[in-house]
Amino acid sequence: MNRLLEAVVENNRQWTKEGKIATYIPELGKADPNTLGICITTLHGEEYFGGDYETKFTIQSISKVITLMLALLDNGRDRVFSKVGVEPTADAFNSIITLETKNTQKPLNPMINAGAIATVSLIEGKNSEEAFNRILNFTRKITGNPDININKDVYNSEKATGHRNRALAYFMKSTGVIENDVEEVLDVYFRQCSMEATCKDIARIGAMLANDGVLPWSGERIIPRHVARIVKTIMVTCGLYDASGQFAVEIGVPAKSGVGGGILAAVPGRMGIGVLSPALDARGNSIAGLKALEELSKELDLSIF
Ligand code: DON
Repeated sequence: MNRLLEAVVENNRQWTKEGKIATYIPELGKADPNTLGICITTLHGEEYFGGDYETKFTIQSISKVITLMLALLDNGRDRVFSKVGVEPTADAFNSIITLETKNTQKPLNPMINAGAIATVSLIEGKNSEEAFNRILNFTRKITGNPDININKDVYNSEKATGHRNRALAYFMKSTGVIENDVEEVLDVYFRQCSMEATCKDIARIGAMLANDGVLPWSGERIIPRHVARIVKTIMVTCGLYDASGQFAVEIGVPAKSGVGGGILAAVPGRMGIGVLSPALDARGNSIAGLKALEELSKELDLSIF
């Protein structure tokens, strides 16, 4: 398997030349565009690696999967989905348009920025510090990595420039979707996006989801089966934003991308996959990461459809 992953990296390294590193969060612009790494964690707890799998990156929108799980644990599905929908979007991940034009005023789903910010507002904690620490500890537990932390430079960079997210959050405050202090909610969101991980860490999150909420290496149940099912379903329909349909056709597994260039995939009953390559396509998804996943999906027959 390690040989297969090295071959997949080799075959797809050329794609790292395409696309652009995200610079709207200035600190992300420092990433090396040639990077391509993969890790697989199987449901037997075996781990396989290829390419630059040890490179750290900020997980960005991949964190939305983690906070959706925690919000569901804290509130139950009825409360969470009274604030955020579960429908896919044809608009960009940071779009504001449907917050006003849809009758419900709810953000469309928890994977776009508006929906993730609304979801995070539901996580328990008396302030942003406490809510974020719960997210951080939850992430450390799922990844089995007590060293997960935030990249402070990326956090400060996004906090200083995240005006679009501020606009989304204040708009949702005006319509009652967000009930608590907007700046506190945004602070939690900026911190969760700045958590730093490797392909191995995100492959492990995928493996837990693939295993219906149980950590494959210890047998510990992290989330109930029905929560794992909801999260994987929303990953299929919304995880790659307005490219989710194409991803389902080409690759066919629950997945979530981030503008740091990471992609987390959960192959039900089989494995978690973590991929990293920072150069992105126009929709904010890693180009070489998608190509590598596509090859892997064909080689290992991973599509769930
Ligand atoms: O809120 C933002 O814009 C970033 N912190 C995360 C967005 C993101 O990762 C979109 N993914 N492709």
